[in-house]
Amino acid sequence: MTQKAPPKVPGAWPLLGHMLKFGKNPFRFMMELRNNLGEIGEFRMFHQKMVLMTGPEANEAFFRAPDEQLDQSAAYKIMTPIFGKGVVFDAPQHKKDQQLKMLMPVLRDKPMRTYAQVIAGEVEEMTRDWGEQGEIDLLAFMKQLTIYTSSHCLLGHEFRYELNEEFSRIYHDLEKGINPLAFVFPYLPLPVFRRRDKARVRIEELVTEIIAKRAKKSSKPEDAFQMLIDARYDDGSKLSAHEITGMLVGAIFAGHHTTAGTAAWVLIELSKRPDILKSVIDELDDLFGEAGEVTFQELRKAEKLENVIKETLRLHPPLIFLIRKVMKDLHFKDYVIKAGKYVCTSPRVSHRIPEIFPNPEVFDPDRYNPDRQEDKIPFSWIAFGGGRHKCSGNAFAMLQIKAIFSFLLRKYTFELVSPPEAYQDDFEQMVVQPKEPCLVRYRKREAVVENATEQKLAMEKKTDQRQEEVIQSIQVKVDYDLCQGHATCMTEAPEIFQVDKKGILTVLQENPPQELLEKAKMAEKYCPTKAIKIITKK
Ligand code: F3S
Repeated sequence: MTQKAPPKVPGAWPLLGHMLKFGKNPFRFMMELRNNLGEIGEFRMFHQKMVLMTGPEANEAFFRAPDEQLDQSAAYKIMTPIFGKGVVFDAPQHKKDQQLKMLMPVLRDKPMRTYAQVIAGEVEEMTRDWGEQGEIDLLAFMKQLTIYTSSHCLLGHEFRYELNEEFSRIYHDLEKGINPLAFVFPYLPLPVFRRRDKARVRIEELVTEIIAKRAKKSSKPEDAFQMLIDARYDDGSKLSAHEITGMLVGAIFAGHHTTAGTAAWVLIELSKRPDILKSVIDELDDLFGEAGEVTFQELRKAEKLENVIKETLRLHPPLIFLIRKVMKDLHFKDYVIKAGKYVCTSPRVSHRIPEIFPNPEVFDPDRYNPDRQEDKIPFSWIAFGGGRHKCSGNAFAMLQIKAIFSFLLRKYTFELVSPPEAYQDDFEQMVVQPKEPCLVRYRKREAVVENATEQKLAMEKKTDQRQEEVIQSIQVKVDYDLCQGHATCMTEAPEIFQVDKKGILTVLQENPPQELLEKAKMAEKYCPTKAIKIITKK
């Protein structure tokens, strides 16, 4: 069968292509493309040909393509001056894969257990002076908070407490170095780029000093920084201070604006829907009571809050399009996308397909309830990307947002200062967030429910009843194309899954006994890349 080129968006300008229309509102442009041309369509940014693919099948083709065919690194060259030469997107493929693997344990289950308390502690600290009531710029608050939480969890106590002010200045200068000009001329001799480069040199000096100080201590902290100091390449060599700096800065950058914007939207959406807000507050009160400690395990039970976050990410994914460079022709259904073009997908457009998410503009967290599961079609919900390049920090982001609200909503009530329709996404930012100012009013809550323990027991009973269903057989299926070696499955169900130091997964029991069903399901639920399927027969 001969394959054809994707249909083209009409109305390209000479030289500029569709640049003006896309730049004005990229989401509207891509949504129109989907509505007019379907799941695939081509447009032009200056001379560059771009192909947009949306919807589950197109997303699957995009995310499953190997790196030799769709290259992710080419789209992220803008980050090289910040992360450093030879680090992650600037590293050769085999090195990049190993570096990303080394970051995984940092975002895995064991350190994650300590992060929950750290994050709740940071929220408490930041709200200490709030008093009985007041007004805040929500986005500014979330940005500050997430930089504290990420630097605390990832960089460790030295940066958070001894170098806090200097780190804020460094981070600010690095951040300013990301602008549209840097896409084309990242090393122009401009003050903004000079400050960026100076900041990169300084942070590496600080990292080098900390590595030297830690080497002299007999007991080392168990943080992300130390994990990278201890990590080894396959040939046994260590990461350099240059690489450690780049990887830590990269992890912080990846999660900062994305998490801050999502957290701000969670509160805005909840404030517009008092009924949903009440159900989330009830859930948190049940789980934690007034003074209950925010732990990793308890946070995982906050299903209503989790659905609210998922629904917020469906409507407001911070990255509205993801790009790859086509290195070898990509074939999709009747179409061929030729090497040399760029191909992109859009979480925001894919999340608004009414055949998959009915009434797509309605904020409806119950979509993810077991009886509806509107996100069950693979690659339909892609806020964190998908496939082998799915964001490794997705579990950390979820944990962070859950921990923030499990503190805030138990202590304060919130209301929007402006009319609800005034809160809109700002498409001028590379990471889409609510437009500023983004004001909310808070008031200290009077009391939380007292019967937390009773309600908790009732919830546990409900879970037990669910477990009583008789299951005849359980089958474990793994999509090895999607597995990235995160090993959350092993933490959840070590009797079924084993992951070695290189991240290679072995399934120990393909048909585990009934008593392991709950654990197997947890492994399925928490695998960040959705590589596991647990099939049961009743
Ligand atoms: Fe792989 Fe998911 Fe386990 S990525 S190692 S199946 S947690």
